Amino acid sequence: MTGNRSATAWAPASLSNLGPGFDALGAAIDGLGDTVRAEETPGETITVSFDPEGAWVGPVDPKSNTAAVAAGHVAASLGYGGGLHLIIRKGLAAGTGLGSSAASSVAAAVATEQLLGGALSQEDMMAAVVAGEAATSGQAHADNVLPSLLGGFVLMRSIHPADHVRMEGWDDLGLIIVLPKAEVMTREARKALPDMVPLSRAVDHAARLAMLANALQRRDVRSLGRWMMSDDIVIPARHHLWPYLDEVTDAALESGAAGCTISGSGPAIVACYDRTKAGLRESLQAALSAALRSAGLEGGVSIHRIHNHGALILDDERAVSWRNGDPVPLPNR
Ligand code: HSE
Repeated sequence: MTGNRSATAWAPASLSNLGPGFDALGAAIDGLGDTVRAEETPGETITVSFDPEGAWVGPVDPKSNTAAVAAGHVAASLGYGGGLHLIIRKGLAAGTGLGSSAASSVAAAVATEQLLGGALSQEDMMAAVVAGEAATSGQAHADNVLPSLLGGFVLMRSIHPADHVRMEGWDDLGLIIVLPKAEVMTREARKALPDMVPLSRAVDHAARLAMLANALQRRDVRSLGRWMMSDDIVIPARHHLWPYLDEVTDAALESGAAGCTISGSGPAIVACYDRTKAGLRESLQAALSAALRSAGLEGGVSIHRIHNHGALILDDERAVSWRNGDPVPLPNR
């Protein structure tokens, strides 16, 4: 299918929850993300295809495809009633806990906005990407889409009105991601959660998240590690979904990580460590690979940092940040 005009965007994968930040905290990560090319087409429909060379190929029904839903919102907000074709190149599979659907939703929204020459407000873009996320996960949580759109860590309370705080990752913060070959669908994992918690637990949870936010504000890796392991509501309710979590966490802590927790609804696990400590990255990588094997799981262990730029508008030669127009090195795709 050929369109008259096209635009391409990339959006990073993301961590979410980080312990007590359930649905309220996420962070964009470097080195992993999705690319979406949006093409103008004749007619009035939105169609989707997946680049077969990507890491995953998903459903193309525009009503449930996260990218199509987000692009449709952007097009409607800009008053565009024509056709669109979206070509999605997945950098990561669905069901990883690393914001796969969010990355597609954000890249599609940004590519469509760029294609149509519009300039939506940040709040309208957020509404579009949250709608895309809701199409796959069943609920409109924003803790993957906002970091993917804006970059860095994002703490959030609501989309309307836009109530969020963005913080940047910093130099000595290193991340190691353990990704077992397993799939946990967020829609299902959310069914394991309690509908209500007693006030005393809600207060305790709020205090833990406040400690975590303070660690981010102070750029304190050790304190971030401590508080990201501190969730007494969501992780206990879902613990049965990740029988390997305790073994991997023990290996990470014994090898010098500052903290280790599940990302989103899993199966990915993230450990944080001090990048300035010589040899720590290598020993953690070896220990976590061994823990994965000893838990009888296939999968990978990879090194990351926080991606502070968020979604990128791409052309052949260059990439610029959607948030502020800054030039950014081209991402690996
Ligand atoms: N906050 C969401 C959840 C993230 O844990 O259900 C899903 O990746």
